[in-house]
Amino acid sequence: MKSYKLGVIGNPIEHSLSPKIHSIFAKQTNIQIDYQAYKVDGSDLELFIEDFFKSGGDGLNVTVPHKINCLNVADEYSTDVKAIGAANTLSFNKSTNKIYAHTTDGAGFVADAIKKDISIFDANILILGAGGAAQSIIPMIHAKHPASIVLDNRTQEKIQTVLDRFSLVKSDEPSTRAQLTDLKNFSKHRSLTDNINLVINTTSAGFDGPFSWNEDIFTTKDTIFYDLSYNKIDSSTPFLSWASQYSDQCHNGIGMLINQAALSFELWTGIKPDINIDENEIFNE
Ligand code: ATR
Repeated sequence: MKSYKLGVIGNPIEHSLSPKIHSIFAKQTNIQIDYQAYKVDGSDLELFIEDFFKSGGDGLNVTVPHKINCLNVADEYSTDVKAIGAANTLSFNKSTNKIYAHTTDGAGFVADAIKKDISIFDANILILGAGGAAQSIIPMIHAKHPASIVLDNRTQEKIQTVLDRFSLVKSDEPSTRAQLTDLKNFSKHRSLTDNINLVINTTSAGFDGPFSWNEDIFTTKDTIFYDLSYNKIDSSTPFLSWASQYSDQCHNGIGMLINQAALSFELWTGIKPDINIDENEIFNE
């Protein structure tokens, strides 16, 4: 029986939940895997990836801080990887000897939103943050035709960089319904009934003190709050503790983590695992 040689590379990597999630998928699907977490320095990155695949590796997950630089060793990029300039999954085709770069983060977010009945179609979606995590979800959200994707960031200048990167998404042709804009522009042009339906936190704000956001973000009691982060101790996060004063519809990023892992597993093995796994099992040592 084939055993897949897999892993996740990052730095730090000790706290990665990916080995646990993939071992649950492997057990569930009866597929043999050897999935290890590898701490890799930036200076060793390219050599590590090449050696891993030359020595029989089938697939790698890539996490912080290597999501951009891992592209230097990839031979082919998916459309979304080209759009966002970063990858979280590498696969190796042993007949062509080529390394393929994919990103499953955005699709993982959308899959979890669907599972949780969070509407993206026709919604006004506010993304807090303008870093790699924010950019990784924009194309897939856009593909689900929201009314608008609104960006806000502590450092305002960085918003323009993201707006420019996704200029195709920004297009105001009727076929591309979603406008990509910033919060100031949304605020200026909104009608009184035009509110934010979904707030997605992609920042690390709140991990060194309580979360707060300085701008008015036009929420109502029906607004849904989703944090891409999670913590191992309880289901809340600094962002969700702050959000709970406005809404009782608050979600952490565990569902997205499971879904992006499932999509990577499927890319490598061709088998779709069941994403309905017991979250407690992931956290059990
Ligand atoms: P990632 O790849 O996880 O997105 P990143 O690219 O370093 O990481 O981006 C981190 C994001 O969190 C940025 O949007 C950052 O805002 P700045 O661009 O102003 O740095 C945001 N962030 C981090 N700490 C923050 C804080 N205390 N308050 C508000 N935003 C914060």
